[in-house]
Amino acid sequence: MSIQDIAIKPFAGQKPGTSGLRKKVREFQQPGYLEAFVQAIFDSQPALQGGSLVLGGDGRFFNREAAGIILRMAAANGVARCIIGSGALLSTPAASAVIRAHKAQGGIILSASHNPGGPDGDFGVKFNSSNGGPAAEGVTEAIYQATQKISHYRILDWPLPDLDRVGETSLGSMRVSVIDPVHDHAQVLQNLFDFDAMHALLKGGFRIAFDGMHAITGPYARRLLVELLGAPESSLLNCTPLPDFGGGHPDPNPAHAEELTALLNGRDAPDFGAASDGDGDRNMILGRNLAVSPSDSLAILAANAHLVPGYKNGLAGIARSMPTSRAADAVAAKLGLPCYETPTGWKFFGNLLDAGRITLCGEESYGTGSDHVREKDGLWAVLFWLNILAVRKQSVTEIVQQHWRQFGRHYYSRHDYEAVQSDIAADCMANLTKALPGLPGQKIGTLAITAADEFSYTDPVDGSISRNQGLRIICGDQARIIARLSGTGTEGATVRLYFEAYEPDPAGQQDDPQQRLAPLIDFAESLLGLRRQSGRSGPDVIT
Ligand code: G1P
Ligand code: ZN
Repeated sequence: MSIQDIAIKPFAGQKPGTSGLRKKVREFQQPGYLEAFVQAIFDSQPALQGGSLVLGGDGRFFNREAAGIILRMAAANGVARCIIGSGALLSTPAASAVIRAHKAQGGIILSASHNPGGPDGDFGVKFNSSNGGPAAEGVTEAIYQATQKISHYRILDWPLPDLDRVGETSLGSMRVSVIDPVHDHAQVLQNLFDFDAMHALLKGGFRIAFDGMHAITGPYARRLLVELLGAPESSLLNCTPLPDFGGGHPDPNPAHAEELTALLNGRDAPDFGAASDGDGDRNMILGRNLAVSPSDSLAILAANAHLVPGYKNGLAGIARSMPTSRAADAVAAKLGLPCYETPTGWKFFGNLLDAGRITLCGEESYGTGSDHVREKDGLWAVLFWLNILAVRKQSVTEIVQQHWRQFGRHYYSRHDYEAVQSDIAADCMANLTKALPGLPGQKIGTLAITAADEFSYTDPVDGSISRNQGLRIICGDQARIIARLSGTGTEGATVRLYFEAYEPDPAGQQDDPQQRLAPLIDFAESLLGLRRQSGRSGPDVIT
């Protein structure tokens, strides 16, 4: 058995984005590419030496090979114990739960979230810290700096133990604990929700459908929904994980989860539908003929949290990402809770959660979560909804409409322009940036623009400042337009435009969101010139 020190060039890749390093599989397969990034993690995180590391991924193509390389590098870099999900699998929220349950010094998660998989698809590597959450900016920066200095990586030249059998084994002098990927996460969820009430709901004939999108959540859904809650096996759609996700795009939104959406809109539809993404941290909630907007979902969970055992003593506060609609703010105001507005990306919630300032948080991009782990959590959201439904004994639609009547409705939509030529995207954003100072005082139809700025965030816990977090046009609490460049796209630039309009009057709450938001949509185009310059007639994805 020998440790090899292999020479490599400093990392040529760009800085890791909001969700770690995400690239095409083929890039990761280049000799030394994955290794350079992983060695930079070990070089910049000394606590891993002699400590424990959690490892697992969403099962996409290259997951197992990458896990093998990382395991042998961990052994060569002095990690004392590696805790790995059997089959090298762990959903993102489960990895967070495992890091916390085992008090590990960190974790490496292999995933490109909702991006397509397979040999031509995407792959990703993400480092999570000892709190179970995505690395904070400072940690990401330290890893990046290490990639720029790197000259060698260390790897153990020794065969891997059997990663499919749960139990204790070793690799060199490193202890390897192969664990059931579901156990720790299920345990956390069982402590939060009323499984008896949900079991009774399903036994009483309430029908559910869960779409695993051929990604990681299949085994988690089977344990929680079928084995523990007694849902019939037929409630599970696409719950066999596949390395290419069956050729699909494992992003739970009405555009990509077409089968589930059609089921809930069809004859004899189940009462409740839900889906999760590639790595299990996102969620989409559906009722019959109704897709719950993720921004609304966060607000509804907050307004009903007292009905759920894990949150019955109340919430410390709520946080949402800046582009997420202000539906949650309306609930926070009514409950007298602090409400924080953070930049896009889950890592910004970490400090607020760790400091006990918030209990619930969410993003418009189908991510919702709480202080039970440090990642957004798809199945957590599904169980939260089921628990509320079990207590209130109303339909999803009734709950949503009652919420709008009580708090007002925030019409909301996100328009994505994908794989736009980078210079065109930059040019359009520059057009809007230039226009911002002149906007306050102008009108969009009857709406008066009260402010227009570039969002920058000062973390209330550590005082760190994050600038350039998106462009905002604000019409008091009546409406907003937001534009930002995606940090997770892997081809050209993805421009995201977000539109929000508030309607407090129940009589005006039944419109189609696209129609209702049309004046804002047209106004944004007049400033950005995105359709014009990119030669497109509209967005690639509307959610
Ligand atoms: C997207 C979402 C963002 C989410 C991130 C990781 O990032 O918009 O809310 O945190 O994926 O799942 P973006 O591509 O917009 O930078
Ligand atoms: Zn994800």
